Amino acid sequence: MSEVIDGRKMSAEVIGKVKALTADLAAKGGGKPGLAVVIVGEDPASQVYVANKSRTAKECGFHSVQHTLPADAAEADLLKLIGELNADPAIHGILVQLPVPDHIDSGKVIQTIAPEKDVDGFTFVNVGKLGTGEAETAFVPCTPAGSMLLIERVRGKDLSGLNAVVIGRSNIVGKPMANLLLAANCTVTVAHSRTKDLAALARTADILVAAVGRPEMVKGDWVKPGATVIDVGINRIPAPEKSEGKTRLVGDVAYAGAAEVAGAITPVPGGVGPMTIAMLMANTVASAYLAAG
Ligand code: GUN
Repeated sequence: MSEVIDGRKMSAEVIGKVKALTADLAAKGGGKPGLAVVIVGEDPASQVYVANKSRTAKECGFHSVQHTLPADAAEADLLKLIGELNADPAIHGILVQLPVPDHIDSGKVIQTIAPEKDVDGFTFVNVGKLGTGEAETAFVPCTPAGSMLLIERVRGKDLSGLNAVVIGRSNIVGKPMANLLLAANCTVTVAHSRTKDLAALARTADILVAAVGRPEMVKGDWVKPGATVIDVGINRIPAPEKSEGKTRLVGDVAYAGAAEVAGAITPVPGGVGPMTIAMLMANTVASAYLAAG
């Protein structure tokens, strides 16, 4: 059986460091890191994610604010709010929870965020820095950054020459994940819905990252023996008939089968999910340090 990669433990370690840095900054007269989380509409999953982000920010000792806009809010109102947060010296990180409703242009919204407050790492400046090997001076998107920490925990920092397959090409996870693995000298393949013979490709991976949002798509026989499997999916599906709960959470990987073959694997929940929040806190405290000079 494979090693279970404990994202909760790693997340707690990162958050411990963030708390220490926050206390240090205050002691130096640098004030509190400020995080503004914005949500438009009432998507239940997004509401849970946003509540967790705001709560963790408070636990870290941050100035934490949440703005909730109605589902029919005008794009102009959202852009105006972002402009105000850009100008607010008490705010060091701005996160607009995605997806936003269809009548709002998410690209426009993201690019309105000041790059130095873009703790999601989604603006052109931060994406460009990551893509050109300047990740050290960029905000790196939280889910891929957290996934890299989990991979390094298992395989060590030297990933040079390993074959990495990333399933999914989203701007939030797949593409930045591929860039991080490339920067770590992996041989990277990005697979997606048009990829031919995905199972055979996946079996070449020493590091397999699944980020497609399809419940249990990656089967045990897609996994190379000994591979490190990072499951980014969080899918809520109907629970088996006789069980009490109405739904259950599963990843993009069929866990039981994959765990028999993999060297190490992240569970869902308790794997990548907690790391996303921890890296958001890390990016926000880093932003506050930069602002304090
Ligand atoms: N929706 C799903 N993941 C994310 C994320 O990391 N950041 C934002 N802003 N929205 C998301």
